[in-house]
Amino acid sequence: METMHEIAREAINQVPPECRVLPEHTEVIARNADALLSLTPEVINGFYETVYGHAPTAAIFHEGERPMREESLTNWWERTVRGPIDENYWAWMSMVGLIHVIRRVTNPMMLSMTDFVAGYVSNNAHRLNLDPDEQRRLVDALRRLAGMTGSVITWGYDHAVSAALFEVAGMPEALLARLRDAEIKTALVDAREEVGNG
Ligand code: HEM
Repeated sequence: METMHEIAREAINQVPPECRVLPEHTEVIARNADALLSLTPEVINGFYETVYGHAPTAAIFHEGERPMREESLTNWWERTVRGPIDENYWAWMSMVGLIHVIRRVTNPMMLSMTDFVAGYVSNNAHRLNLDPDEQRRLVDALRRLAGMTGSVITWGYDHAVSAALFEVAGMPEALLARLRDAEIKTALVDAREEVGNG
């Protein structure tokens, strides 16, 4: 498998600059770090109330695990808000993706919860006493951060799955990809019949 830095770079290169976290976005997060950190307990609590409140996500956790998970998410939030959001940060996010694969946290679970965090900030930014332009910039930066976190994590997830299949099947990844595409083409014939044009 490629390194975490490589996986993160590949994912980021696929994201159009219009949607990326650029220096102006890391700067707006950094200069509002104290305001964002004031939301820490409610972001963490809202996150875990949400995942524990839904059977498929609640089923991921072992009994008694919640305090440890709250601690790791608090660590992520503080490290994200304090920065730096640089190459090492995105490599860390690739690894976090792999850590979740082992626990069977799926991409829909990850993507919806990165969106939850950005949405929480968006819904509560009016409480941070910022001027309207700065509030808008901060909400935009968090939305981009969530989007890119999702991109890096899901790309890492797909890599982990195909690299593992490669190891198990002993087949080159390119051949596996061709076989996969052939299967999907067949499945698409049935899919078109099932849903037509929507
Ligand atoms: C915004 C999305 C998420 C972020 C940023 C995040 C972040 C993290 C971090 C930083 C860790 C600690 C990794 C380490 O040990 O170094 C972790 C662990 C974990 N997370 Fe998440 N997480 C997210 C979403 C989820 C979701 C949706 C679930 C389940 C529904 C989940 C379940 C877990 C579990 C079970 C572990 C423990 C993994 C282990 O066995 O070590 N996470 N997460």
